[in-house]
Amino acid sequence: MELAKRPRRLRKNQNIRRLVRETSLSMDDVIYPLFVVEGSGIKREIPSMPDIYQFSIDRLMFELDEISKLNIPGIILFGAPGKKDEEGSGAWNSNGIVQRALIQAKKRFPELIMVADVCLCGYTNHGHCGKVENHKVLNDASVELLAKTALSYAVSGADIVAPSDMMDGRVGAIRRELERNGMHDTGIMAYSAKYFSSFYGPFRDAACSAPSYGNRSSYQMDSGNLKEAAREVELDIQEGADIVMVKPALSYTDVIVKIKSCFDIPLAAYNVSGEYSMIKAASDKGWLDEKKAATEVLLSIKRAGADIIITYFAKQLAGWLEEKIHM
Ligand code: PBG
Repeated sequence: MELAKRPRRLRKNQNIRRLVRETSLSMDDVIYPLFVVEGSGIKREIPSMPDIYQFSIDRLMFELDEISKLNIPGIILFGAPGKKDEEGSGAWNSNGIVQRALIQAKKRFPELIMVADVCLCGYTNHGHCGKVENHKVLNDASVELLAKTALSYAVSGADIVAPSDMMDGRVGAIRRELERNGMHDTGIMAYSAKYFSSFYGPFRDAACSAPSYGNRSSYQMDSGNLKEAAREVELDIQEGADIVMVKPALSYTDVIVKIKSCFDIPLAAYNVSGEYSMIKAASDKGWLDEKKAATEVLLSIKRAGADIIITYFAKQLAGWLEEKIHM
């Protein structure tokens, strides 16, 4: 007699689906991005990112309190400084916006994991991620400035520094700079496979970091490339990364699958601003159910192999998991 193969047996009700579900979301997996600005009393919504705000340091402390209570294990901090210059010197200024935020935040929330994004684009007047000469982004000169910046964040209390610039050799340079200065315990989460993407648009409104001319295609990866992602990750691991990252996440889940299968190192994926805002916009119009769409996207990123998801939905996810909203 032919065996009756009936996969629907395991889909009959919510409880059997719970029992056989292979992947599920948890607050253990998420990092929440935050934008910090000069001034006081500021909590300013970013027009292209509903429910996401720029905070002055005083208001950031209230936000961190809420985040800790929601059981979010970590945050990633981005600074939007008051003044920018040609080199981006605000990035490594010991009295810079992110440095001051880290010092205060670490004092009050020592257990919350604080990641500091390391890049120059928010600090340079041209908006590129490194040092520019004749409209060309210089690699090695930029790496020196990035290493200085990473050390400054580490000294101010960052648990992890996260270079997002895509210059060659910056992970090694940062690791050497940290070691040389006794910062042996600072982790490096490398934006290893960071693609040149249209999905960063809303973020650039939040961090005021859009390039004033040209674009980032000479340093960020070309979106047609998969094998190159493995080469980038391999280099970053050799250079001393503790965690590697794929970014964006949603249009690059094949990259997540590949990196997960090739390397035994914690893998983060960044569910970026544009991926967030398109769900927000569609749900605002009533075209998508926000909770269902967002949890489905986050689950797809986890199913692909991400151990950590950086997502603007982290706070909402806490509420959704509480309500036990599952697919
Ligand atoms: C800085 C940086 C960017 C993002 C994270 N770090 C923007 C960029 O490379 O232009 C994007 C994050 C997002 O879109 O949510 N280099």
